Amino acid sequence: MREFAEEPVLEQSVEDVIKAAQFAPTARDNRAVEFIVVRDQAIKDRLSEAAGQDFVQKAPIILVLASDANKSVLPEFDLALATGFAMIQASELQLGTVWKNIPAGVQANKVREILQIPDNFKFINLLPLGYPLNEPLQHTEAEFEKSKIHYETWTGPKKC
Ligand SMILES: Cc1cc2nc3c(=O)[nH]c(=O)nc-3n(C[C@H](O)[C@H](O)[C@H](O)COP(=O)(O)O)c2cc1C
Repeated sequence: MREFAEEPVLEQSVEDVIKAAQFAPTARDNRAVEFIVVRDQAIKDRLSEAAGQDFVQKAPIILVLASDANKSVLPEFDLALATGFAMIQASELQLGTVWKNIPAGVQANKVREILQIPDNFKFINLLPLGYPLNEPLQHTEAEFEKSKIHYETWTGPKKC
């Protein structure tokens, strides 16, 4: 889902998405994830350039999750799970998201500078958020690969 409608996202929906992310489990219950909600077009333009993908500037909102590495021993895992929770809640609200990976290094340094994220906070992605322009493609039963399920051991019987 990389094409967004112009329709603005309700403030309540943004809050619900963040609430779901905040309620995701964290290592040792550190609860160190914080959030930046970016709506400003000039900032989105800069993020898009830093991230190298156009859809970043076209989404109504860019949500950024950042975890305090002074409080979490596993900030990247916390962030990945919180992102997943945010994505599921967004889809419940008919909102589309796409995980835009931000690798450590040049891209992350640019994003950190643009958003003025403190050095002790880690982030792993940008999460564009908005109503999909087109009906999102649904996964189908045919895509479900039962052959990837192993029972009891890797080489065990293929069905329970
Ligand atoms: C860890 C991770 C990193 C991803 N990084 C990017 C990315 O940098 N750019 C992008 O366009 N999509 C990225 N995606 C989105 C996947 O490409 C997308 O989920 C996949 O194409 C399947 O599409 P669907 O989620 O609509 O089924 C990423 C997804 C994950 C889970």
